[in-house]
Amino acid sequence: MVITIDGPAASGKSSTAQWVAERLGFQHVDSGALYRAMTATALRVSTDVASWTASALLEADARIALQPGAKSFATLIDGECADAEMRGPDVTAHVSRVAQMPDIRAWVNERVRRAAERHDVVVDGRDMGTAVFPDAALKIFLIADPWERARRRLIQRLGRSPADDEIAEETDLLVQRDGSDSTQTVQARDAVLLDTTYLTQEEQVERIVALAHAVSHRPATG
Ligand code: CDP
Repeated sequence: MVITIDGPAASGKSSTAQWVAERLGFQHVDSGALYRAMTATALRVSTDVASWTASALLEADARIALQPGAKSFATLIDGECADAEMRGPDVTAHVSRVAQMPDIRAWVNERVRRAAERHDVVVDGRDMGTAVFPDAALKIFLIADPWERARRRLIQRLGRSPADDEIAEETDLLVQRDGSDSTQTVQARDAVLLDTTYLTQEEQVERIVALAHAVSHRPATG
């Protein structure tokens, strides 16, 4: 069974997907982590971003692994966890450009599809419910007000309540990235739209788990 959770930057996709996967005994696959790993590896090779091409970037294919763990697939670079680097500002600033390359999208999609072959998965990203798993059992599209998304992302990063000017600056960056990601962020026609602006993490997880139970008990048709 595949559940997809798509939505814009910092809409809570990954943390929600992880919790939902845990509740259902599924594995979580974070497609954004693969784009981030590809970008981090590219930056390790060359910071001359203008010279990056998909074929040069794809030489890093063997360096990036999606490894099944107890609850989630871990994205490793050269066999090691590189989460801090992958979530850092340099990668975040360049990842949208990498994600716009069709060959890189095909590479990520292939990796994610392979992960789903042997596991029940909750996959999060931008286009999982459209480009990658059009037949997913349940599709969620998460949205939230940009200010609230920025506030949550800063709490996650700083471990404290951010000041208004910090939130304003982060909101600008998020809105910019929403713009760069707009072509690849697609809401499936059959996705359930969930606005999490006024929901707690627990509430949004609860709603998705309930929807998952409902679809898995629905009698098969056709
Ligand atoms: O949660 P956040 O948007 O910060 O990041 P992410 O899910 O880790 O995705 C990082 C970047 O990867 C996004 O800004 C997109 O450029 C790209 N991405 C994509 O194009 N398609 C996906 N399915 C997932 C991520």
